[in-house]
Amino acid sequence: MAIYLSCRDRLQEGSHLDVAALWKCNVKARLRLEFYFHRATQNMEDFISCGGLVDNKGLQDRQKQQMARSLPKQKPIPGVKQVIVVASGKGGVGKSTTAVNLALGIMAVDHSKTVGLLDADVYGPSIPKLMNLKGNPELSDDNRMIPLINYGVPCMSMGFLVEDTSPIVWRGLMVMSAIERLLRQVQWGALDYLVVDMPPGTGDVQLSISQNIPVAGAVIVSTPQDVALLDARRGVEMFKKVNVPVLGLIQNMNVFQCPNCNHQTHIFGSDGVRQLAEKIGVKFLGDIPLHLTIREMSDKGQPIVISYPDSLEVSTSLYIVAFSSIVTVDLLFFVS
Ligand SMILES: Nc1ncnc2c1ncn2[C@@H]1O[C@H](COP(=O)(O)OP(=O)(O)O)[C@@H](O)[C@H]1O
Ligand SMILES: [Mg+2]
Ligand SMILES: [Zn+2]
Repeated sequence: MAIYLSCRDRLQEGSHLDVAALWKCNVKARLRLEFYFHRATQNMEDFISCGGLVDNKGLQDRQKQQMARSLPKQKPIPGVKQVIVVASGKGGVGKSTTAVNLALGIMAVDHSKTVGLLDADVYGPSIPKLMNLKGNPELSDDNRMIPLINYGVPCMSMGFLVEDTSPIVWRGLMVMSAIERLLRQVQWGALDYLVVDMPPGTGDVQLSISQNIPVAGAVIVSTPQDVALLDARRGVEMFKKVNVPVLGLIQNMNVFQCPNCNHQTHIFGSDGVRQLAEKIGVKFLGDIPLHLTIREMSDKGQPIVISYPDSLEVSTSLYIVAFSSIVTVDLLFFVS
């Protein structure tokens, strides 16, 4: 920790990075340091060429996408700087789990950031359970809903507005007005990032969100098996069509390590998401292992980033994912 702090101070004074000292820090501290380095130098060209986080061509493409965006149609959410959507083609691949840990991970790698979480999965909201929240949001003076807060993250979900037991049977128009409400009638306050947990698929809801608010980027979660990859690819195509930059792909559940003998098994196939990312020229944001603790803690409403912040095998991957997502967003907006 001491090394980390002294490195940080030196960085903030503007001197160059002490690589030897940096290497002695643990991974989490190292990520934070790299983050400060990136901030302190503000020299994106250097950062890109040394870290290789975004290749130049990708960057230019994204710049073009940014410019091509039809801004007049999109109205920003008051107080919210950047919207990051977490999407997937298929359900059950770990989108909500990732969205929650991404929001918490962003705050863990940079304490100065404020992050909110919007559950746009009106059919099967899972943020209330994952964030251990329930109850009805209060209304502000101007009749907007005030998010419920846990672990420092303001959250809004359809699950706060409907009864637990009632099945949500929606018709098209109702879904749209629910989404509209969640997008427009929530008093978020000042947020650096709003992480949106999207419903599965590439339908009207995804399109309507992408067209109604300026989305800084989409993170796409997939497991490495073929059926999921097919849908993930569809997701990438959809976001490209509506000019939402795809920040990258996250590979979830690539490997299961037996807690007894440490043997590794690739239950859903091996590295399919990484290969897809390479094939279609999208950044690979990172790997999250299939881990019993992730599932157990999720079910208890204690996300892994909060419950085991320093467990290397579990959390590091999520910090990396969080870190590379926000750096990619920052890069996009620095150059545009
Ligand atoms: N990396 C992981 N390790 C273990 N369990 C996971 C992991 N990712 C997700 N899960 C579990 O898989 C189930 C589906 O995850 P969820 O995030 O709800 O998927 P989605 O939002 O894509 O439908 C949940 O029970 C969750 O706890
Ligand atoms: Mg979900
Ligand atoms: Zn074993």
